[in-house]
Parts: sequence; C-alpha cells; structure tokens
Amino acid sequence: MKPLKFDPSNCLISYDLTDYQKIITDIHNDMHTFKSEGNDFLGWLNLPVNISDDLINEIIQTAITIKDNFDTVVVIGIGGSYLGTKAALDFLDDNFITKKTEMIFAGHHLASDYYVRLLEYLRNKNYCLIVVSKSGGTTEPAVAFRILKDNIVKKYPDDYQKRIYTITDPSSGLLRHLTDTEGFKSFNIPSDVGGRYSLFTPATLLPLACAGYDIKAFVNGAKLAYLDLLSPDLLSNDAYHYALLRHLMDNSGKTTEIMASYEPRLNSFSEWWKQLFAESEGKNHRGLFVSSVNFTTDLHSLGQYIQDGKRIMFETIVLIKQNALDLKIPFDENNFDQLNYLETQTLRTINKAAYLGTLQAHTDGGVPNLVFELDKVNIYCFGYLTYFMMKACAMSSYLTKVNPFNQPGVEEYKTKMFEILGKK
Ligand code: PA5
Repeated sequence: MKPLKFDPSNCLISYDLTDYQKIITDIHNDMHTFKSEGNDFLGWLNLPVNISDDLINEIIQTAITIKDNFDTVVVIGIGGSYLGTKAALDFLDDNFITKKTEMIFAGHHLASDYYVRLLEYLRNKNYCLIVVSKSGGTTEPAVAFRILKDNIVKKYPDDYQKRIYTITDPSSGLLRHLTDTEGFKSFNIPSDVGGRYSLFTPATLLPLACAGYDIKAFVNGAKLAYLDLLSPDLLSNDAYHYALLRHLMDNSGKTTEIMASYEPRLNSFSEWWKQLFAESEGKNHRGLFVSSVNFTTDLHSLGQYIQDGKRIMFETIVLIKQNALDLKIPFDENNFDQLNYLETQTLRTINKAAYLGTLQAHTDGGVPNLVFELDKVNIYCFGYLTYFMMKACAMSSYLTKVNPFNQPGVEEYKTKMFEILGKK
C-alpha cells in the first residue's frame, strides 16, 4: 500500500497520458543511466538503497553521545542544508512537550538581534554545534559558525573540539579543511549530492537522530518511494504524473503553483518544497513560481486572491489521512456562540469540511487542485513524501529543459554583496 495517494481529478484540464509516455520514459532512462544534464549530482537518486547500515549506525551512535552529553544542539545551515531538517522536525513535532534535547537553528539568516539573543540564551546551556555546509563556504552559516565557535571556544577552552560536529563535502571546501585541522567529528555529504537533495545523508539524519527520531524508518520510507517510482509508467508512477501535470499547467498559461495544507505541522515542509522546486526549476526564464499557503489560516488572507484574483495559479494540496489525536466540540447549554450545531462533530471533521468546501469553491473559481493524501504523521511517511517530491522535481525540471541541480541565479546576490563588503 502506497503511503501517499495522488488524486489529479480536479486538475481542470483534459490530457491523455499515453501522449506523454515516450518523453517521460526517455527522461527516466537518461536519469537512471546517469546520462542526464547534471548527472554528476544524481547521487541522491539511489541513496535510499545505497546508504550503508554502518553509516546509519555510526550516526545513531554519534547522536547518542550528543544526547548523553549536551542538552542543546545548535544546527547551523541554510537552504538545502537546513530546510529538510526543519521540515522533518516540525512535521513530527509533538506540540507542547518539552524535549530532552533542544534543537535550535542558526546560519539561516544574518539578523543580528537573533544572534545576540542566541548567545545570551546559550550562556546557561550545555550545548554543541552541528555545522552543515556542503560547499563549506556559504556566508550565512560561515558567519554563524564563526560567532558560535568563538563563543564555544571561550566557554569550553579545554574540550571545545568535542562540541563541534561538521557535515560537509568529503574532500573539498573550507569547512573540510578546518575539520581536518581541528579534528572535529565529521560526516560527509557525498560529492554527487546537492544541498536540496541531501535529505538522506548525514546532513538531515544526524540532527533528526539527535532529536530522538528513528532515522532507519525515515530511510525505509524513502526506500519504498524509490521502489514505487522505479518504473517510468505514468499509470503507476505518481511522481511523474504530478510532474507532467505541472508541465501541462505551465504550458496552459499558469505561472504559479501554491502548496496548500490544512495542518500547521506541514508549514515547514512547504518551505522545503518551495526551495526544492524554485532552485531546481526556476532558471533560464522558465519554470513555475512556487508559493505556499497554510489553511485554514490563510483562507482569511491569500484565500481571497486565490478565489478571486488573477487566474494564474493552481494549488497542490497535501492532506493527512489519519491524525493520531482528535477531539469533540463540547455542548454548551447557553449556546451564545451558536456553535451547538457542531456538537456531534470533531475538529477533524470540521477541518475536512473546510478542505472540501475550499476545494469546491476554488475549482469552481477556475483554480485547478492537485491533491495528495499522506497516510500518517510519522517519519516513515515523511521519508516517502520527500523522496517522492525530489523525484517529481527532477522529472519536472527536465520536462522544463533545465538542469535541476545547479542554482546559477543564487550567485548573483552573493557577487553584489561581496562587492559591497569589499571582499577580495
Ligand atoms: O540546494 C542547494 O544546493 C542550496 O540551497 C544549498 O543547500 C545552500 O545554498 C547551502 O549551501 P551549503 O550547504 O554549501 O552551505
């Protein structure tokens, strides 16, 4: 049974899958024989089956050491070296339960007040750093690391090396050089895996294990997706079907895809998804602009535009089939709020009604809806969902005729910033 179901029935366009099977099969074959453009960054494709038990066990052992010795872990990273971990932690979060090991993020922006406050906060914490940077030279995490390393060296002059873990390229980059010089415990992001495709590498696995999650189940979820998506057949490969629909939406004049969910735990997943598709596909003046909404919250803001504004967008919805917890709406004798009509309902059924009503209203308003339903809130399903999206994204990018694995546009702001800062 697939833990992720795809329902394209509200896409509002007619198409015949057989018309596109050949082009999909050709791209698939090129990808799986490593002949596609960007083939030196296709290492993620087979990672769920290639990752070794030894590496997973070493990550788990390292996480046990971290959990036993520190109460706070600061994870430094940006873009693909940060969003996957954030997405997974927020998806799995048991709200309102104090965690034994606290996870804090840094290196994902340059806002000074955050770092001043963070240093104050860490004063009474027994903490360690996990620095994630594939290139080892990205400005935001490098600046954060310099600030936090300075702090950790002053606070723990005798054993600061034992409090710094790095995850970077196996052989190149400034962080690799520093790691080897200082003797920090370190893991590799394989050379042929780029940041936004690095979910099933130590970049995400170590922080997740430190937070107490079962990373073997995470990889197993990806493994099932890997197997489910091995055939190029559009009738069975939902990732390719989804990629094709994005392509058809683009060709039909849509400019924007909006990821929508009805569960706050999926908000950071949407951020990860946006980065994945925007950096992979948005180049050479091509690709869909990707955006996201969190319903029902945003039905009271962006919902107005979606229903009534320019007809440029379609929505992709991720639903969760089973929430572990649910509650009834209490009866109130006075009924001042006139909500007694909901007395027989639970919050889940009300949220579902909001989804069904919105689906109807938005499709009536001419906004196509592509709907996914994820089985459960667990790390296995999250592994499946994220691998699925990476495969869909690669296919979609190749259909758009761009290389999914570079990000030349990101360099532009850096060049200008370095000029302003007088970097030699
Ligand atoms: O997906 C990508 O490749 C980027 O978003 C990178 O992850 C991001 O720029 C951070 O790069 P690095 O890990 O080299 O610090």
